[in-house]
Amino acid sequence: MSSAVAATKRAAAAVARVPPPMAMLAELTHRCPLACPYCSNPIALTPGEEELSTEEWIDVFRQAAALGVLHLHLSGGEPAARRDLVELTRAAVALGLYTNLITSGVGLTEARINDLTAAGLDHVQLSIQGVSAESADRIGGYKGGYQRKMAVANWVVGAGIPLTVNAVCHRQNMGEIDAMIALAIRLGARRVEIATVQFHGWAERNKAALLPTREQVEAATRTVAAAREKYQGTLVIDYVPADYYSQYPKACMGGWGRVGLNVTPSGRVLPCHAAETIPRLTFKTVRDGALSEIWYASDAFNAYRGEAWMPELCRSCERKHVDFGGCRCQAMALAGDASTTDPVCIRSPLRERLTRDTDQLTAMSSATLRYRGR
Ligand code: SF4
Ligand code: FES
Repeated sequence: MSSAVAATKRAAAAVARVPPPMAMLAELTHRCPLACPYCSNPIALTPGEEELSTEEWIDVFRQAAALGVLHLHLSGGEPAARRDLVELTRAAVALGLYTNLITSGVGLTEARINDLTAAGLDHVQLSIQGVSAESADRIGGYKGGYQRKMAVANWVVGAGIPLTVNAVCHRQNMGEIDAMIALAIRLGARRVEIATVQFHGWAERNKAALLPTREQVEAATRTVAAAREKYQGTLVIDYVPADYYSQYPKACMGGWGRVGLNVTPSGRVLPCHAAETIPRLTFKTVRDGALSEIWYASDAFNAYRGEAWMPELCRSCERKHVDFGGCRCQAMALAGDASTTDPVCIRSPLRERLTRDTDQLTAMSSATLRYRGR
């Protein structure tokens, strides 16, 4: 059998087994006015001149819709930094995609919100960094950001677009969770997402300042449980607990290459946000080939699909269909090997070391933040 025929057969077999993606995160740009120390974007950002053009993004959306994607998350950086945001949204809506704008709010005006509403935008996720101008602007590294966010929330709710408030919590604001939830209610949000910081990309440089303590995490879990009871029927509260204190890892991305994909500003197609930290993988861009071919047949997407790649510990474990062996990028960062069990798992031989390192790091405590460069 020729190698071309064998490759075609392998691709066809892969298509037969792999379901299409449901969601796509389009990182429209890495440009961003904020400078959050917890930024999970890569250390090396894509310069503006390398970003996909309007036509290229619309073609990616077209391919995604044809592939089976239902949810399109328009993200960044700050997606409002793209002058064509309204045009991109209109095109995505016309393709039948559910559009969710993930924004810091900076760069949005009332007129722009109205244009986005007219374009058919379905949902907005607005980030907050704190519950007062002082704390929020300190963490975001952008003076005036908090006031702008409050205004944007009003315009979004006034336009009838469902609003989710996103709050990344960490050592320096963990005590504000109650107030963040109350703020989300005041802003008219239907949902709040409280996500504990994860140490991908730039955030890794701020681990000592941002890693919450065990006591903070336990208090946060109690706060969220009480708030869920109090606001039942009024506000949906999603909570992403701190990885390093959990017993089991999260099912990162719902499993590698299972439900979603990311496209970077320059069109690189990734199975997850941090996949480029895995050195043995190479990633194609939408300029190299069709999205469907990348999803079904590329080596990077097939690298950690299914169970064949799993170490014996995961392969013989009853939770392998729950967490899929955890996060590959976390395994890479903590163990130096992306194909090992996520060290967060209590069954991992590396778990004890992780607990020791975590306790040491939080005992050292540092308040010095390294802001994301622009
Ligand atoms: Fe998940 Fe693997 Fe741990 Fe089992 S051994 S719980 S599959 S990470
Ligand atoms: Fe890459 Fe979790 S961030 S698999």
